[in-house]
Amino acid sequence: MGRCVTWIRSFAEISPARYRRFVLVALFFVSAIILTGAAVRLSGSGLGCPTWPRCTGDELVDISEPHRAVEQLNRLFTGTIGFACIAVFAASLRRRPYRRDLTRFGALLIGGVFLQALIGGIVVLLELQWHSVVLHFLASIALLYGNLELLRRSGEPSTQRRIVVDRDVRRLTETTFALTVIVIGLGTLVTSAGPHGGDEDVERLGWNLTSAVRVHSIAVWCLVAATIGLIVVARRRHATITANRANALLAVLMFQGAVGYIQWFNRVPPALVELHILGAVGVFSAAAWLRFASFEAVEGPDTERPRPTADTQPDPPLERETVDAR
Ligand code: HEM
Repeated sequence: MGRCVTWIRSFAEISPARYRRFVLVALFFVSAIILTGAAVRLSGSGLGCPTWPRCTGDELVDISEPHRAVEQLNRLFTGTIGFACIAVFAASLRRRPYRRDLTRFGALLIGGVFLQALIGGIVVLLELQWHSVVLHFLASIALLYGNLELLRRSGEPSTQRRIVVDRDVRRLTETTFALTVIVIGLGTLVTSAGPHGGDEDVERLGWNLTSAVRVHSIAVWCLVAATIGLIVVARRRHATITANRANALLAVLMFQGAVGYIQWFNRVPPALVELHILGAVGVFSAAAWLRFASFEAVEGPDTERPRPTADTQPDPPLERETVDAR
């Protein structure tokens, strides 16, 4: 019985560590939908369901043919992300100690998923016009950033922060992050000018594909240079966390760059493009994590203190044995 009550209590109240697990699950789904969305385009299933929110004029759900099934699965997956974000929000209400910033962020995430579903609908109603597809992709990246921010916050004991790197390191970090966003933005324009619009008849961006790829890869080289520069400067200034995270970003960039060139010289086969999009999620996450390294949580009025556990509680006074001296 006692165990049962403890279990119910532990379910009713959520520890910071368990709350973080909820955020990690949501992060997984938000990253995964970027890949399933890409799979819709790469398999030419963008107009598999020609209407929204219904799949066809009279069917809400229809998987009667392959393109329809792919698009339908992606739509259902959006529902899963919605649930994951609602779970994060609900968990923040039961988290002890309670943190208002986490609840606010959870609510923002739910709003973001709802907005994305709406943009997805607009993409279908505009018959996959390239600018709507670009907006849809970039909104996913913004949602990913929101989720990473929530993960960072949930791992820190206070909302108060201070900058822990000097001005040069901070500037270089911000430049690296901005270049990452530019590279990703240019990547979406390359896709818009290329063959993977989601449907054979979709109008493409009228930019010569080779020139688009050239501009995209020049931006990538600038990003690589900024990252190497940051590693050197951060090491000299003893900003160890920044240097380590910049190293991680460089490693992901190497992988992503290699995939980029291989896919380009092989006429952008869908499987490699999918891998390139996975790489883009990795590059963006690494760049965001690097950005967070410029700060550290500091003590404030809302600082969480670890709750006393069986190990940290003082031992109860020893019971003295009474010896009958008679
Ligand atoms: C290393 C950092 C890189 C990042 C973060 C990145 C990111 C991206 C992104 C986000 C897209 C758009 C995906 C979409 O809209 O679904 C894209 C497309 C593309 N990228 Fe990159 N890219 C990188 C490097 C490269 C390199 C070095 C090349 C080689 C030339 C390259 C070639 C391409 C091509 C050809 C496409 C169009 C693929 C398609 O047809 O959809 N990328 N990239």
